[in-house]
Amino acid sequence: MSERYFATRVLTWYDRHGRHDLPWQQAISPYRVWVSEIMLQQTQVATVLGYYERFMAVLPTVQALAAASEDEVLHLWTGLGYYSRARNLHKTARIVVEQHGGEFPRSVAALSELPGIGRSTAGAIASISMSLRAPILDGNVKRVLARFLAQDGYPGETRVAAQLWDAAERLTPPTRVNHYTQAMMDLGATLCTRSKPSCLLCPLQDDCQAHRLGREKDYPQPKPR
Ligand code: ADE
Ligand code: SF4
Repeated sequence: MSERYFATRVLTWYDRHGRHDLPWQQAISPYRVWVSEIMLQQTQVATVLGYYERFMAVLPTVQALAAASEDEVLHLWTGLGYYSRARNLHKTARIVVEQHGGEFPRSVAALSELPGIGRSTAGAIASISMSLRAPILDGNVKRVLARFLAQDGYPGETRVAAQLWDAAERLTPPTRVNHYTQAMMDLGATLCTRSKPSCLLCPLQDDCQAHRLGREKDYPQPKPR
C-alpha cells in the first residue's frame, strides 16, 4: 500500500465516520487546539468536553491565560487530574506572551521547547491548527501503526519508537494534514481499540499486517520481562 493510498483511505473514512463536531474543531486556532491537546493527553474526550468549554469561557485567549493566577488555572483544572499539565499550561502561556509576542511558534521544533509540549503534541498543534505537514504518535496512533505494520518490539524502546515515528512521518500526507491527524486519532479511539478492534469496519483492513495474521491483540507488543 503506498503512502498516498494509506492517507486517502484514512481521509475518506474520516469524511464519512470521523468526529467533526468537537468544540476544539470549531473556531480552530493554535491556542484552542493546544489547550484541547493538553487536556486530552491523559483524559477521555467525554470528560474533557465540559472542562474545555468552561476553560475557554473564562480564559478565551493566550493573553487571558498568561494574565490569570496559577490558582485560577488550577481551579479550572480541578477534577481533570495530572495537575502538572495545568502548571505547564500556565507557564507556556506566559512564555508565548512574553517571548513570542502572543503567537505560538510555527514549527514542531520550537513548539516542542515549550513546557508540557512533547513531539506528538507539537505535531498535533502544528498539523491541526497550522496545516503544517507534521506527524503525531500518541497512544492511539501508536496502536494503529504497530498493528498495521505488525511492528515487533516494545514501543517504549528507542529503536522501536524510531521505526514507528519513521512510519508516521512517511504516511502523513502533504494535503489535508489537519483532517488526517484528527482521522488517525479517531481511528485509534473508535475502531482500532485496545481490546476489541473493529477490523471489519476499518479502512486499513485489507493491508493491515496484524489483521492478516489474526494477531491484532499482540500489537503493540508489551514491555519485555
Ligand atoms: N486525543 C488527543 N487529541 C485528540 C483530538 N484532537 N480529538 C480527539 N481525541 C484526541
Ligand atoms: Fe486496527 Fe484492525 Fe484496522 Fe488493523 S484492521 S488497523 S488492527 S482496526
